[in-house]
Amino acid sequence: MTQLDSLRIKSLESYHREYDLSVQDPKKFWADKAKSLEWFTPFQEVLNWNFQEPQVRWFEGGTLNASYNCLDRHLAEHGDEEALVWEPNDPTSPTRHYTYRELHAEVEATAALLKEMGVSKGDRVCLYMGMVPELAIGVLACTRIGAIHSVIFGGFSAQSIADRVNDAQAVAILTCDGAYRGAKSIPLKSVVDQALEQCTSVQRVLVLKHIGGDCPMNTNRDRDWLEKLNALKKEGRAHCPAEPMNSEDPLFILYTSGSTGKPKGVVHSTAGYLLWSQYTFLNVFQYQRPQLHFCTADIGWITGHSYIVYGPLLVGGRTLMFEGIPTWPDAGRFWDIVDKHTVDILYTAPTAIRSLMACGLEPLQSKSLASLKVLGTVGEPINAEAWHWYHEHIGKSELPIVDTWWQTETGGILISNLAGVTEAVPTFATLPLPGIQPVLVDENGQILEAAEARGNLCIRYPWPGMIRSTWGDHERCRQTYFSTYPGLYFTGDGCNRNAQGQYRITGRVDDVLNVSGHRIGTAELENAINQHPNVVESAVVGYPHDIKGQGIYAYIICQSLPVESGTARKAILDTVSHLIGPIAKPDKIQFVSGLPKTRSGKIMRRILRKIAEGEWEQLGDTSTLLDPTVVQDIMQSRL
Ligand code: PRX
Repeated sequence: MTQLDSLRIKSLESYHREYDLSVQDPKKFWADKAKSLEWFTPFQEVLNWNFQEPQVRWFEGGTLNASYNCLDRHLAEHGDEEALVWEPNDPTSPTRHYTYRELHAEVEATAALLKEMGVSKGDRVCLYMGMVPELAIGVLACTRIGAIHSVIFGGFSAQSIADRVNDAQAVAILTCDGAYRGAKSIPLKSVVDQALEQCTSVQRVLVLKHIGGDCPMNTNRDRDWLEKLNALKKEGRAHCPAEPMNSEDPLFILYTSGSTGKPKGVVHSTAGYLLWSQYTFLNVFQYQRPQLHFCTADIGWITGHSYIVYGPLLVGGRTLMFEGIPTWPDAGRFWDIVDKHTVDILYTAPTAIRSLMACGLEPLQSKSLASLKVLGTVGEPINAEAWHWYHEHIGKSELPIVDTWWQTETGGILISNLAGVTEAVPTFATLPLPGIQPVLVDENGQILEAAEARGNLCIRYPWPGMIRSTWGDHERCRQTYFSTYPGLYFTGDGCNRNAQGQYRITGRVDDVLNVSGHRIGTAELENAINQHPNVVESAVVGYPHDIKGQGIYAYIICQSLPVESGTARKAILDTVSHLIGPIAKPDKIQFVSGLPKTRSGKIMRRILRKIAEGEWEQLGDTSTLLDPTVVQDIMQSRL
């Protein structure tokens, strides 16, 4: 039995046995599982923790390297087997395939290049790229030399890049001239140029020429990625040993929105994160080599980190990376990819399922999908209709669907059924993975002991893949996740538990929206809207949206009233695109003359939410409002 095989949960009994062991003696349990990683130096202590500071330290004393675990350790036995398949945006362009040996060579060369550019262990490197293989290669190259990667989703604006670069004081940026998305090509390098006008820490920009055409380069700062790489290879200098890293050295930062105005840099550590992504990938999807795993997320989000790059490569598996979008050239694109590459596992988001569902069954005609064995969803609660469509039309009413609940902060999946091993229940994430001790609490922080309960979801014991800090501001980490319910990690999600102990996540209970599976903080969005010179004040809430799950509804007070709504609306959308990115653009903007506020000046979002949802009758008590007539006005002009 290989060390990876020893991690596998193969039956329902084995799930229960492993779960019980993980709760009875977590340190012994994880010390055992950690043997599945390749260590340069063995660890001395399994776990040190308290949730007050918070301090969580796993596997201290040990050293290891992420790229070594993803690549080098597979070379002897599986070096010539496929690691990465890349499907380009344009279905008529050539696909790329990398064996473990080839991927290893590219990562080594890129790591050597980073070093040559002056990047050292502990430095922060941002990556702002499209979904090209060099993004995965760049990420792994950072880890090889011990640099901390911070991937910025390609849809974010120059301002968002500048905020992230400055917060992390990044020394280098890896980018592309541009990216393809369906029929469009999107400039990336020029957005970086704009961002860097506000940043002083960046010494080097490495540019991958991907779409071609004009790409102005700043000769002091910018370097052509492929030109430099080829030169290193020619000179025989494209080698770079894997740097031994301490277990708790940060592996990466990933920025995510919260309920305050500024995105926070979630910090993940090396050993714990690697173990968690490996363990959960193997067990949730029941992955078997040489199956091909197709996760449709972007590497700019945590799903892409854990289940395109790390999870699949850690287990020596095959991962598929797709550059394009599900609806171009037509709504059959995912299914064409599944058939073309004989994909075994498809992992996507409810929003993608709903948008493909809306295209009808025609795009599925003449598609076989016979290679599929497991389906998965992530990012938001899946509604029953979408679940059944996915099950019936993609899974032919046979395949297991894993509904995987987790967060950027959790590193990997925490609550999910295990494909074909534990029961799937539509709209339920179901059971916790071994090591995860969920609790539901009421508003007063009382733990709800009854089997059947509804409350706020918390976790009461550390797991290896959990958040360690928020970059540059540890207090913010404590405040956000560990102060609401002392002694517990608070997820920000509401949740139901049934008599069988299965969990159903109902959505955020804080001021965070989940739009098409993307987290958007209402405070961050309001800050952006308020930057427009004509805006006096704004309040943003979510409302149910057929495709996106939640849509963004903005109530805005303008200076010049009455507003000429067409131009004012466009100007505000442009402001949001400019400051955050197009993903945060409100779906509905209602210009109002006042917002419902309490006498102490607090905006009553509850009322605004009800109005956006169209639930007039259930507005509740409005008598505490400073000016109750505002509510009538807003209702009358509701969109
Ligand atoms: O509200 C939950 C929702 O997405 C949030 C985490 O968002 P993010 O950090 O961007 O990570 C998304 C990918 C892991 C959670 O707090 N969420 C995620 N998965 C599910 C979900 N809600 C219900 N069911 C899920 N399977």
